[in-house]
Formats: sequence, structure tokens, C-alpha cells
Amino acid sequence: MCGIVGYLGKKSAVEVLVEGLERLEYRGYDSAGIAALEGSAIEIVKSKGKIADLKAKLNGNLSGSTIGIGHTRWATHGRPSDANAHPHRDCTGKIAVVHNGIIENYQELKEFLLEEGHIFLSETDTEVISHLIEHYYKDNDLFTAVQYATSRLEGSYALVVLCTDCPDRLIAARKDSPLIVGLGDEEYFFASDIPAILKHTRRINILDDGEIALITSSKVEVYNSTGKKVAKKEMYVEWDAEAAEKGGYDHFMIKEIHEQPQALQKTLSGRIHSEKGIVDLKEVSLDAEKLRNINNVAIVACGTAYHAGLIGKYAIEKLVRIPVEADIASEFRYRNPLIDDRSLVIVISQSGETADTLAALREAKKRGAHVIAVTNVVGSTVSREADDVLYTWAGPEIAVASTKAYTTQLVAMYLLALDLGTKLGTLSQEKAAEIVKALAEIPNNAAKVLEQAEKVKSWAKEASVWKDAFFIGRGLDWAVAMEGQLKLKEISYMHAEAYAAGELKHGTLALIEERIPVIALATQEELYDKMVSNIEEVNARGANVTGVTFEGNKELEKAVNQVIYIPETLPLLAPILSVIPLQLLSYYAAVERGCDVDKPRNLAKSVTVE
Ligand code: M6R
Repeated sequence: MCGIVGYLGKKSAVEVLVEGLERLEYRGYDSAGIAALEGSAIEIVKSKGKIADLKAKLNGNLSGSTIGIGHTRWATHGRPSDANAHPHRDCTGKIAVVHNGIIENYQELKEFLLEEGHIFLSETDTEVISHLIEHYYKDNDLFTAVQYATSRLEGSYALVVLCTDCPDRLIAARKDSPLIVGLGDEEYFFASDIPAILKHTRRINILDDGEIALITSSKVEVYNSTGKKVAKKEMYVEWDAEAAEKGGYDHFMIKEIHEQPQALQKTLSGRIHSEKGIVDLKEVSLDAEKLRNINNVAIVACGTAYHAGLIGKYAIEKLVRIPVEADIASEFRYRNPLIDDRSLVIVISQSGETADTLAALREAKKRGAHVIAVTNVVGSTVSREADDVLYTWAGPEIAVASTKAYTTQLVAMYLLALDLGTKLGTLSQEKAAEIVKALAEIPNNAAKVLEQAEKVKSWAKEASVWKDAFFIGRGLDWAVAMEGQLKLKEISYMHAEAYAAGELKHGTLALIEERIPVIALATQEELYDKMVSNIEEVNARGANVTGVTFEGNKELEKAVNQVIYIPETLPLLAPILSVIPLQLLSYYAAVERGCDVDKPRNLAKSVTVE
């Protein structure tokens, strides 16, 4: 994810900025840059690749400057390149900007600015900000220009602005993207994350949405969205550097689990209009005519991404009424799949670099299929080779165990099903509107599930001594059971299996004995009675059953030992919420067992070999 550092004081700004950016390296990035005021001019140095590449380009220059801004970029709009790296400047070269977040209306703003004669040097959404500030900049009043410019931005931003006419100040603004002010001794900082400034100060102000802040070498002033000055509370950071990288959490995995509400919001952002009840997926180039030519869909992926594909199969078959196969990439590529130029192939990959998924993509392309990639990493190989790309915008996932990538992949699959069903007319406007409305509530609902973390933690204490566990469900719940068992295996090294609940009696029931733990997902209305019968089957053999169902379904308590509740939503969307307690269970059980949570044995984050 992108990182921001801004500095104004007596030290060498470039040294402070580069060191701060290095502290943010763990978050993942693909380019880095700094802008510093040298004399009366802004000098910008930026580079694709590592901070070491930026340092090589800097080559010790600009060391005399005491004011500057720096950025590590994790590509969203525009591939990783020197030109797309931040900071971005305006036409006059007077203004430089670094930005985290996504400007959703940047196309519209860019067209407006192009008509006004502005010249753009990058493919980024960020560059519209520097030109917009230039557009409003008059009488050396940078603050008002930033106020006007930010009032036109839709989406999320944390940004810091440097201007040649104001060598004594930096101005920053935020909306839906974190930004803090570091309070030093005759020096002030802006940063997206605490680790960037921890070496210099532990005293901070946290900016709130809509606020604009100004720092000079002697003061900080913060204004709210109506332009009124606000008094900010000073906070003191107790964390050490390692804890700060993890946002105060013990591991990246739990941090990423808790990031899900924001990540889900980003995946949905700009793609649904809940009042109108429509989905808007500009990324998918297939129109109704091309779609009518499609006979079958194959979803291909590995591991957790494959489990997201299983949900995608259900969603597309239900809403688009077209045959869908979900396939493990390493199987698909070697089984002479029935794919041709009338097939749609959807590959799902968080990293976009998984060797088997990539090979499956190439196989599908060779056979003439239209390929849509669902990935989290801009510029990844699958994103470059697919016909269309649907980014999940989950931000970098550092823990090996996939959590926020999975739930955002699910959202991407629902969006895709809605888009295809609407275009083909297999989905009524009313039904689409109902799903869109429920999707808009998903980030809040995910936050509510996370409120139960403590309850799951005590369950996990019990779970940490399990020898085996069984996850059961029907329909979409079965697909979630698959993900639940994988999480438990990979993080806590416990044996776990997932079964379609109706299939138990065909063999697996023989393994159910006294006190054996069973996790039973029961969120699918149409299959609910059948699911309860399957729970009774394991109960009769003495299993210790934990149910997962919607709030208000007190009935299930009669059939199981304990229930974990999730907020009500459409059964179709339940997987996004019901998986969260399972993620928490595997995390806390692994911690209890002393496992290396973020780097489980024998596993790699991105499997780039066959
Ligand atoms: O980067 P990808 O999504 O292509 O990775 C696929 C799998 O390797 C990945 O989902 C793996 O199963 C996770 N470690 C599971 O948590």
C-alpha cells in the first residue's frame, strides 16, 4: 500500500524522508519518490523499484533542503513506472503532491483540466490533484486552493502538498485514508503510518476525515471541512517499531482480518450505486452481444482464491443462468479443458503471479477464450495478460494466510455476476437492486462480525488442542467450509476437513465420534432444514458442534453446543461474513499453539513455481 512522509524542520529533509519511506517498505510498494525544495525550486526524484534505486538516483544530492515530501507507491491507476511514481507536479512546477487512496472521479476531472490546457505526464489519478490545486491557486493562497481542490475530489485521499511560493509550510488533507501529524521539537511531520516518524517523535495528532492541516517549523493548525480551526488532542505512541508496522496488532494476519471492512468498501467503491440499485463495472469489456456468444464459464485459481471461485460459480449460475465450472488451476491446465472462443475464463489470484493460475490463463487464451482476471496487484502478470482486469483493491496482503484478499475476491465475483446478469437480462432490475443494496451494507456488517473477536478467541483456546476438526455446510456454506478448513490447516497445523453436509453419510460419518469438533455453517435459507438434519446426524454420534448462522436464529441453539452469529444479509452474500469467525478461529488457535502465524512452515505467499 502507498506510504506518505512529509517533513519540515532543521534536518536534511531528504534523509528524514528516505529513512521514513524505508520504515514503510514492509507494506509493499513498486516505486518511490521524493520532492524537496532546493532554493526556490522543487526538485523531484523518483524511481520504479526499490528505495535503494531511489537512493542511487538521489546520489547524495538535495541534502541541504529542510522541507519535502516522500511517497512509496503501490500501483492502482497506471502501471508501476518512473512517470507514475509520486510526487506529481502541476504545469508550472510550483506545486508537488503525494497521495494515498483512489480518486474515483479522476477521469471527469482530467477531461475538465485537459480542456483548460493542462498537460499530464502520468497515467495516475493523483496527477489531477496537483493540476486542480494549480487551477484554484491565486495570490499565494495555497490553503484555499487545497480547500477548493479537495472539495471536488470523490473517493479517498490522504495528500500532502509542497509549493515553491510557501517555503515555510506543508499542507495536508484526508478523507477515508489515514494521515497523522508528527509533533517534534521545531520540526513537524506528516505520515500515513506511525513507523515512518517513530525515530523522531512519539507525539502525534491524528487527522480526521475532511480535515486540512498546515505545518510550519513552529506550529500545526488543523481546520475542519467548513474551514473552522479545530483543537486536536495530542496522542503519545507507546508502540515499538515492530508493533507500529503492524498497526499495534501482534501479527499481520490479525491486522489484515481487521482491515476487511475498509478493504470491502474499497472493492465496492465506484462500482455500485445503491440508490439507483445498479452495478457499474467499466472494467468488463463484454457487452450483451458478446455475452450472448458465451456458452460456458470456467473459474480457475489455487488455494483460497479457488475457494472464492467456488462462490463465484454459485453466484454466476444463480444470477446469469450459464454453466460454470470452478477448477483448480493445476488440474485445469493438464486436463484438456473444454474451452474455446465461446468460453469465458475467470482467473482469480491475489498476487497475480501464481504459476499454475498463470499457466491456466495462457492455456485459456491459446484456446481463444475471453479471460477476465480478478487480482489484487496492479501490473501483475495475470493483469497484463488477461483481456479484462477486475482489481480487488484490498491493499497489500503480507500474511501468508489470505483473509482480506478472499473476502474482496468474493465481492468481485458478486459484482461480476451482477454485471453479466444485468447485461444478459437474466437478472431483474429489482433483484439486482436488492443485491446491490445488501452489498453496500457488507462493510458495516463485517465490522460487526469483528466485534465478536473476543468470543472467538475463547473458543480458539479450546480449539488449540483439537486433533481433528470437521467443517460442514450445504451450498454456499460448503464453499465457506472449504476455506475455513484450509485456514485452520495452514496457520495452526491442525488436521481439518470440509464436507458437503449431505455427503457425510456416504462415508465420513464413520469418523464422527464422542467430542469430535464440528463447525456447522447454516446460513442458506433454502437448505436450512436439511442442514439441521445433518447437524442432528453428527450430534447423534456425540460431536461437539459450533453453529454459524444469522442473528435472530435462536432455533439453531437447540441443535448445537454454541452459536456464532453474523448480522443478517442476503443468504447469497453470507460467505463474506460467515468466513470471518473462521479466520479468527484459525488465527487465535495458531497463536495459542505458538505457531509462526504470518509465515507458516513450508508455505510461501506467492507460489511462482509449479
Ligand atoms: O496469489 P494467489 O491468490 O494466486 O495465491 C493462491 C494461493 O496460493 C493462496 O490463496 C493460498 O492458498 C493462501 N496462502 C491461503 O491462505
